[in-house]
Amino acid sequence: MTPNIRPLVAGNWKMNGKREALATINVIANESEAEDLNAVEMLICPPATLLYVSTTLTEDVPLQIGAQDCHQAKSGAHTGDISAEMIADCYGTHAIVGHSERRTDHNETNEEVCAKAKAAIEAGLVAIICIGETEEERKSGKTLDVLKDQLAGSVPDNVNSKNSVIAYEPVWAIGTGLVPSIDDIKDAHEFMRNELVKRFADEGGAMRILYGGSVKPGNAGELMAIENVDGALVGGASLKAEDFLSICKATAGLLTN
Ligand code: PGA
Repeated sequence: MTPNIRPLVAGNWKMNGKREALATINVIANESEAEDLNAVEMLICPPATLLYVSTTLTEDVPLQIGAQDCHQAKSGAHTGDISAEMIADCYGTHAIVGHSERRTDHNETNEEVCAKAKAAIEAGLVAIICIGETEEERKSGKTLDVLKDQLAGSVPDNVNSKNSVIAYEPVWAIGTGLVPSIDDIKDAHEFMRNELVKRFADEGGAMRILYGGSVKPGNAGELMAIENVDGALVGGASLKAEDFLSICKATAGLLTN
């Protein structure tokens, strides 16, 4: 945790969840009003098919709804894509950009991720910009070099602590149950914080840096307590209301204890 930063716990449902999953949104939405969760900001990014209906279900509660990607253009001939403006038009508040699955499945480059983040910010969304090393890069000792390159290439110049969030997700930790050691996460987050401060001064010091990759109710407290870890990007465990809420509570508990 970084003092004075309100942590964000974001759920990324990926390509999971049909209409029946709206029941999960409802459970999380109802709980999001609980006093013991005030200390955290809560977000679910369902598939695009559920975005609009999810925002209508959460209109009066603190649970925010976001998208998992956005196109860099405002509109036009881009079959199958969704613009940041369209997400904002459906009352979405955030867009994840540069998730490693999109970098792999859709060959997204740092340059494209940067353009997407810029488009998200211009549409009034918060950009959650994902970076992280592969297993091979970690094994060959290149983790910090990769993070430096991805931060330089994927983060646009117009970011600030309100319109953007960095999510550090080691690719090899996503969906695998593997998590880096506490020291490795601490070092990576400290490195990213310094890079952000170098480039964005005070705003870089105030930006949230999330950790993502196999965050579960059982390890959330320990992970969220690490210096410069300002919340979590949660995949698998966000599909179950109970697990997602436990992660939020573990995070909030660190602030209220
Ligand atoms: P996981 O996914 O929590 O299932 O590891 C994290 C993510 O991809 O954002």
